[in-house]
Amino acid sequence: MAPRDLRPILVLHGPNLNLLGSREPAVYGRVSLTEVDRSIRRHAGAIGVKVECRQSNHEGQLVDWIQGAGREGFGAIVINPGAFTHYSIALRDAVSAIALPVVEVHLSNVHAREEFRRHSVIAPAAAGQISGFGPASYLLGLDAAVAAQSRPAGSARARAPRSAPRPKR
Ligand code: DQA
Repeated sequence: MAPRDLRPILVLHGPNLNLLGSREPAVYGRVSLTEVDRSIRRHAGAIGVKVECRQSNHEGQLVDWIQGAGREGFGAIVINPGAFTHYSIALRDAVSAIALPVVEVHLSNVHAREEFRRHSVIAPAAAGQISGFGPASYLLGLDAAVAAQSRPAGSARARAPRSAPRPKR
């Protein structure tokens, strides 16, 4: 797919990410969500793709945005599901239900933190996960979303196993 054919990318921030900059700065840094969104838009401009950023503290709102993304004309989603990462089957089902590639991102390295953060219920339904690079995780996520959107239909995600194979008896 030529870059000019790229559809816009929807960036979703989940719960508590509106507090970036003041929330646990030792973990999440001092950069506000407004500044993160500004650097996302700047990066999107540099790589030639349109982007829209939204934040919600509400699971249902995030589900509605994921479900509607295709209808709204987006070609891929980058999502930081926040704490929903670790338990929201509703978000995972929404990601599984749509045809668009979804890239899961995290500011912190969730695999180096508390045990409960090491498991993502979203990741098996996503095209992939980027974790631990601070606000740059979103920029890497945008690059990944462009790559995933440019991949021919039926490759990678469609071929990847959706769950671990059952052990043979
Ligand atoms: C987070 C990691 C989650 O465990 C946490 O609940 C968040 C932020 C991150 O970006 O590092 O809210 O998604």
